[in-house]
Amino acid sequence: MSRARLIRAPALGEIPIRPMTEIDLIEVGEIERITGLSVWGEEAYRAEFGRENSIMFVTVFPSRETAAEMRVSGFIVARVAGDEVHINNIAVREQARGRGLGSALLSAALGAAKKAHARVAVLEVRAGNRAAHALYLRHGFVIVGRRRNYYKSPPEDAILMTAAL
Ligand SMILES: CC(C)(COP(=O)(O)OP(=O)(O)OC[C@H]1O[C@@H](n2cnc3c(N)ncnc32)[C@H](O)[C@@H]1OP(=O)(O)O)[C@@H](O)C(=O)NCCC(=O)NCCS
Repeated sequence: MSRARLIRAPALGEIPIRPMTEIDLIEVGEIERITGLSVWGEEAYRAEFGRENSIMFVTVFPSRETAAEMRVSGFIVARVAGDEVHINNIAVREQARGRGLGSALLSAALGAAKKAHARVAVLEVRAGNRAAHALYLRHGFVIVGRRRNYYKSPPEDAILMTAAL
């Protein structure tokens, strides 16, 4: 159990979630790099802003180092296509994990997808990513398949998961 998980999680309603804006992109790019996600890069996120079927949320908190300065602590990017929403990226800064932020971001994205008439959520996750597996299982996802060597650097299988909305 990480140190962050010992901090009591605030109620979900207390976690501020808002749509991602261009101003957030530097921090989103930073989180992407330091959390080891497959890197999309700033331009790819910028392109998502132009799509009406994109769901892009951030959660913003004062940083622990400088209490006054608000920091993007996590983000989620998903895209609705027909009755399906694909969860593309979700990440929370390491020092902010275990406080319900990932859960709040995922709930917000799934809620927005449902409003946009999505009926099923789909995603791929690294086979060894236990924290993400647990998060998704908690939100009703089930494992439906495996893609061999789907990821590069380092190579790893992907687990495919879906959830009915
Ligand atoms: C996956 C990730 C987004 C979870 O964010 P988080 O804010 O720590 O998650 P939460 O605090 O909301 O936890 C929600 C649930 O997920 C599960 N979970 C999260 N982290 C876990 C861990 N380290 N070990 C076990 N379960 C964990 C638990 O079921 C938890 O619910 P609980 O606290 O009531 O038991 C975060 O670990 C992260 O950013 N990882 C790196 C990026 C990444 O791998 N993204 C997924 C790509 S597919």
